[in-house]
Amino acid sequence: MAIRLGDEAPNFTTESTAGTINFHEWLGDSWGVLFSHPADFTPVCTTELGAAANINDEFKKRGVKIMALSVDSVEDHKGWIADINETQNASLDFPIAADPERKVAELYDMIHPNALNNLTVRSVFVIAPDKTVKLTLTYPASTGRNFDEILRVIDSLQLTANHSVATPANWQDGDDCIVVPAVSDEDAKEKFPKGFTTIKPYLRVTPQPNK
Ligand code: BEZ
Repeated sequence: MAIRLGDEAPNFTTESTAGTINFHEWLGDSWGVLFSHPADFTPVCTTELGAAANINDEFKKRGVKIMALSVDSVEDHKGWIADINETQNASLDFPIAADPERKVAELYDMIHPNALNNLTVRSVFVIAPDKTVKLTLTYPASTGRNFDEILRVIDSLQLTANHSVATPANWQDGDDCIVVPAVSDEDAKEKFPKGFTTIKPYLRVTPQPNK
């Protein structure tokens, strides 16, 4: 069954390039990103894994652990990492899970047979420290993902988890935020000492509270 926002991320034990991993234990108290790719030694996937490796310090800064997955073997993954590092000027330092029996792929509904037969599509799951799923994305095999966008969503999730704000379209860390409708004007005056602007009664903006 498809995984929905707010569901607990299913736990699993898998072989990976970093050895045997129990997913929940590996996550510990961190945020997590689990992302699948269709197959090793393929061009779009090579650029994606390189992009993820090159931005991994930004994930780490935010307390996020990332893990990739495909239905290929650990041996294939290890051979491919050398190519990724060479061609993408990267030093890949996160685990790639091997799922040849498609156990995790089934658990997370990562195989969409009408789009891509028997291989995982490009799924992304962002998981909070309480193990709930906060974001799901599904991209086709022909489109490489934007890892800056995944970081941007994590910035929004981490901000909105602690402050009574939401983030508008195309928001970037440091931009103004939206005061959530559940907060009255009276309460907003207390919660947002930098003030807020009422554009419409339902559309109020405030400087980012944690900046
Ligand atoms: C790729 O990564 O280039 C790719 C993988 C599977 C199907 C199509 C493209």
